[in-house]
Amino acid sequence: MAEKLNLAVLISGRGSNLQALIEACAQTDFPAKIKIVLSNVPGAAGLEKAQDAGIRTETVSHKEYTDRESFETALLAALGNCNVDLICLAGFMRLLTPYFIDRWPERIINIHPSLLPDYKGTHTHERVLKDGKTQTGCTVHYVVPAMDSGPVIVQRTVPVKDDDTPDTLAARVLEQEHIAYPEAVRIVAKKLLKNRGKESLITGK
Ligand code: GRF
Repeated sequence: MAEKLNLAVLISGRGSNLQALIEACAQTDFPAKIKIVLSNVPGAAGLEKAQDAGIRTETVSHKEYTDRESFETALLAALGNCNVDLICLAGFMRLLTPYFIDRWPERIINIHPSLLPDYKGTHTHERVLKDGKTQTGCTVHYVVPAMDSGPVIVQRTVPVKDDDTPDTLAARVLEQEHIAYPEAVRIVAKKLLKNRGKESLITGK
């Protein structure tokens, strides 16, 4: 069987991008598998999606920690024994600090509902409509300490319609997110699995 990349998916809510990754991973030729789903919100709907797919889940509630570093230490501990190669943020609504990010250089990716670098942050669709833009989309990018700013892996565009509301636009962008995220994982997996092969040749492990 071909080698697969081990993913951790971090969520805070509904988990539709997680579901898209679960479905992609179910394809035999997809180069990744999900080892763990972590939520910072107890009872997040995405946790059930993971459990239905037989994936291990854990909740690390940020509310139980007094500062970001101790929250991130708990996240790192939860990831600790899962052999994770790549962390996929999928609607994970906490900003990660360099304390966490520097431990996973080029190993954390995120999906954002705009064509970055435009419309970083929240309420992207409202702002796109307010500005009268004719197109928007979604971006999967590497995570760096500055919010929504790392190198782009995949972007997909979506035309804005005259009668769009934030909800209708969000729904059409979301459809493209579900295509973009698996596509980005394929791209990253290709690179990381190639390097993994080299590492093992050098170290003999
Ligand atoms: C998506 O729109 C994603 O781009 C943003 O948060 C939303 C999460 O949705 N970061 P879901 O939980 O994957 O359904």
